[in-house]
Amino acid sequence: MGARIGVGLLGLGTVGGGVASILLSPQERHPLVADLELIRVAVRDLQRPRPVDLSPEQLTTDPQTVVEDPRVDVVVEVIGGIEPARSLILAAIKAGKSVVTANKAVIARHGGEIAQAAAAAGVYVLIEAAVGGGIPIIEPLKQSLGGNRINRVSGIINGTTNYILTRMADEGAAYEDVLAEAQRLGYAEADPAADVDGLDAADKIAILSTLAFGGGVDRQSIPTEGISRLQGEDVDYARQLGYGVKLLAVAERMATSEASAEALALSLRVQPTLVPSHHPLAGVQGVNNAILVEGDPIGQVMFYGPGAGAGPTASAVVADILNIAGIRQASGGDGRLDPLLAAGSWRSCSLVDPGNVRQRHYVRFNTQDAPGVIGRIGGCFGDRDISIQSIVQFNASSAGAEIVVITHEVDQRRMDEALAAIRALPEVSGLAAHLGCL
Ligand code: HSE
Repeated sequence: MGARIGVGLLGLGTVGGGVASILLSPQERHPLVADLELIRVAVRDLQRPRPVDLSPEQLTTDPQTVVEDPRVDVVVEVIGGIEPARSLILAAIKAGKSVVTANKAVIARHGGEIAQAAAAAGVYVLIEAAVGGGIPIIEPLKQSLGGNRINRVSGIINGTTNYILTRMADEGAAYEDVLAEAQRLGYAEADPAADVDGLDAADKIAILSTLAFGGGVDRQSIPTEGISRLQGEDVDYARQLGYGVKLLAVAERMATSEASAEALALSLRVQPTLVPSHHPLAGVQGVNNAILVEGDPIGQVMFYGPGAGAGPTASAVVADILNIAGIRQASGGDGRLDPLLAAGSWRSCSLVDPGNVRQRHYVRFNTQDAPGVIGRIGGCFGDRDISIQSIVQFNASSAGAEIVVITHEVDQRRMDEALAAIRALPEVSGLAAHLGCL
């Protein structure tokens, strides 16, 4: 048995309860788990029934006393939200304690400030649970893939929306109906905005991008579109054309840098995207997450598994606590940080002008069902040197037709010009859908 490592827990909800139950049942786990001692736990309400057996002395409603307790070596923050989480993390760092957090919102917005404070204090802030729940992705990006030049990180990193999209595809169900049932089953929050509007995925891709490319970008500037405007017919047409629709989060290095010589130009985005049915991300169903990392020389590597929930997220939190405990036991916590595990930024990155971002597009137009319409739509693309992969008419009736176009790769600026020209055609009554396409 090694030296005891004191753990202070801020929050005893779903994730906190999962963490406490691992710490309190170390049998058959790595022996280091038995060296972790749950010292104090901050909760909102002392009277609430607990998922684990804790003594009254272990519980407090004042999180500051957990952070300041001299027996606590590692502070675990699983409260969520921006404040007081940010202030408590900074207070723990100031008190010389390493921090483990599952809080993607605070890391995506204040990660730079927190990392600087941690480096100055010689402590770790580890965040494996902030992205992908139980999937190991943070540590692989920091350590196992450290010898690679990363070109792209993309993935399905929100389980709620993937559950909704899976059911829309499987059952032909409408978005609103599936969302209502997901809320009833507890898969979606009563206020689902962070998930369905893509904000949760944008937080997570901002974090992955910082690790993959060595520097952060402005979280608020990430182009973000969720699934709340997605219509069932596009999921159906995509399926007929050999694609699934997924809410994809992407961070990629741009081929030509438009930013200053020192800053790496990146494109980050969150958007509903057609994924070819043979693509590895197309098979990710239900609440699962998957992250595809593309680098040189590794090629493609995909990380897949449960992206949320008490058990998977607690697994990631405890892995981080164990990392810190192992280093403390080996070195006595002498303030020298392992540069890979600490993962400080090492260059500046900036977002490219969205007009320069190149990708394939799926668009659906409502039109008259008249001779020459497909030709005129095709001409608007051809005039701007945009190559079409397929153009198909669906649902023709006396009321009109729906024309779906999938383009080859084109920059957003030229695509927007073509769409403006098509909308101006007298036979076209509107652009009904516009999605990305892999
Ligand atoms: N709300 C998130 C999801 C889980 O649906 O994936 C926590 O990150």
